[in-house]
Amino acid sequence: MASRYHEVYQSWKDDPLGFWKTAAAEIDWVSTTDKVFDPDQGQYGRWYPDWECNTCYNCLDRHVERGRPGQPALIYDSPITGKSASYTFEELLDEVEAFAAVLRDRGLEKGDRAIIYMPMIPQAVMAMLACARLGVIHSVVFGGFAANELATRIDDATPKAIIAASCGIEPGRVIAYKPLIDQAIELSTHKPDACLVFQREEQAADLIAGRDHDLGVLMDEARAAGRTVAPVTVKATDPLYILYTSGTTGQPKGVVRDNGGHMVALKWSMSNLYDIEPGEVFWAASDVGWVVGHSYICYAPLLHGCTTMVFEGKPVGTPDAGVFWRVISEHNVASLFTAPTAFRAIRKEDPNGELIGKYDLSQFRSLFLAGERADPETVNWAIDQLQVPVIDHWWQTETGWCIVGNPLGLGQLPVKPGSPTVPMPGYDVQVLDDAGHPLGANTLGNIVVKLPLPPSVLPTLWNADQRFFDAYLAEFPGYYKTSDAGIIDEDGYLSIMARTDDIINVAGHRLSTGGMEEVLATHPDVAECAVIGIADKLKGQLPCGFAVLKSGVERSHEDIEKELVRLVREKIGPVAAFKIAITVDRLPKTRSGKILRGTMRQIADGESYKMPATIDDPAILDEITDALKSHGIST
Ligand code: COA
Ligand code: AMP
Repeated sequence: MASRYHEVYQSWKDDPLGFWKTAAAEIDWVSTTDKVFDPDQGQYGRWYPDWECNTCYNCLDRHVERGRPGQPALIYDSPITGKSASYTFEELLDEVEAFAAVLRDRGLEKGDRAIIYMPMIPQAVMAMLACARLGVIHSVVFGGFAANELATRIDDATPKAIIAASCGIEPGRVIAYKPLIDQAIELSTHKPDACLVFQREEQAADLIAGRDHDLGVLMDEARAAGRTVAPVTVKATDPLYILYTSGTTGQPKGVVRDNGGHMVALKWSMSNLYDIEPGEVFWAASDVGWVVGHSYICYAPLLHGCTTMVFEGKPVGTPDAGVFWRVISEHNVASLFTAPTAFRAIRKEDPNGELIGKYDLSQFRSLFLAGERADPETVNWAIDQLQVPVIDHWWQTETGWCIVGNPLGLGQLPVKPGSPTVPMPGYDVQVLDDAGHPLGANTLGNIVVKLPLPPSVLPTLWNADQRFFDAYLAEFPGYYKTSDAGIIDEDGYLSIMARTDDIINVAGHRLSTGGMEEVLATHPDVAECAVIGIADKLKGQLPCGFAVLKSGVERSHEDIEKELVRLVREKIGPVAAFKIAITVDRLPKTRSGKILRGTMRQIADGESYKMPATIDDPAILDEITDALKSHGIST
């Protein structure tokens, strides 16, 4: 079948507002106006101004009212605990109404914020939907972040409540969440009124009288009383959620997502990009703490009337590298979305795909990869093993959905290895040089998107309009800066080559090396430091820290290195995967004092590099090479 992509993309270019008006017809609105976009509102305009809606209604009620009450809406499969559960749309709505009643009893109303700190359990999705039902703005914090990171988010979002589980479970260990929350509340200036804790069997939490409540008990009471909560009407432009993501400093950016544009874009993507029919099972093997989890575990599949999967496990080790195939065959998954790192992990354990052959995957139609560069070797292995289209697509927390991809629903375009293919409607993607001039085909430069941005993309940062402008709009007037560098070829295919800032990508998780440097700098023996991302076969990149110690420090360098590793784990969390700290005598710098992080990375990755013309002392590069070698990193 010839792809309809070019025709559809052109139809958006010819009439962008008409395109998004048609797409909006897929959503049930409380009220609409003739105005699809107001260029004068917000930082670059706002989508569907004055339209009214409720995201939870669109995810649940309308499917219960119109033909899907008994269809599974959410399947929970937890190889790590051996548990599973399934909720129909009707059952999920009942749970969410009970949840919303509990939140309302604690005084949460439209516009209030709630932080959700939960592992991959159904209650995490219920919490998000219950907030959406009330117009409460949720902010999910990934369980792998430490108390300090949680405290930063509490102070920025100033939530009325924290919704949590008593624990998360990682292979071989139970992580008690409550002490982390208590510590975070201790550290934060803002103090939430309430903490609602879902007590898990694996480890219950001690509750502080007055502030903490047993969520399960309260929900049981609300359910038994048959409490219902009508969806609260919000404006399309009202925030649905805040999701914090790494910026260039330790202070994360609060990406704001609106209600209306978000629903429209996600709904469009389910048919046209992912080629999924309502009623099918869609599985995003990510975590609700990340944007992929927000969009494609919680909201998009439910908006589309699909069954979504909540998977609490790992691609390997729970119990083996066949777990993805078991889940796909057991639950009739039509499409899987995950990060390439998960496939690298599976391939390492089961290079010949022997475990794949054990399962019936005849229902399985496509694999989507995002979150980091999909290396052609991994993509080709997946195609060979699974015999389905494997689609790389590029997006960011900021956008909430795909910027560049290969739209299976419009007909797959030819694949060019290493390229996530072409821009989705709504995105006019260009490559500019540092002075903002357009670059020709196949020339590396800054990837930008011409304003206005399409529905779902962040309108601003939470309580930080100026930071939003400075971070994204100031450098290239009229464009959104993606902070990715890349090329567009003569056929309009994009390739992402690198970040232009200090963000690194570790196992599909976005991390700031600047944030890690801020932590290392707090160690009393450290005079200065630098963190770089070095290539890793499994996780894509790994952070590697260099520290110059203050003069006169006579303690064992090995001990200090261990302390530095521990410090990052304590302050940022295990998710930073910070395991390499190296003490050195000096850091390589330019004559003006800028640390040559790029050259250090090239050395660590064994790439050939040009001696920077402005380097102060070339001999330091040899010292870095030796230090890396002595820590087992072959350069
Ligand atoms: N709560 C607490 N700790 C967590 C956690 C959570 N929710 N998630 C991860 N961690 C911990 C891990 O236990 C690990 O701790 P350790 O240093 O004690 O081993 C550390 O954080 C690093 O985790 P991770 O990077 O996930 O490494 P891993 O070795 O546990 O697993 C993969 C490697 C490849 C299997 C795993 O990263 C993976 O499944 N990646 C998919 C990525 C993904 O879903 N990305 C989302 C975008 S699509
Ligand atoms: P996050 O906001 O965590 O989704 O991370 C977004 C960043 O991850 C992007 O800016 C890219 O640097 C990287 N990224 C995401 N998807 C891809 C992809 N398909 N190919 C290359 N890089 C990607």
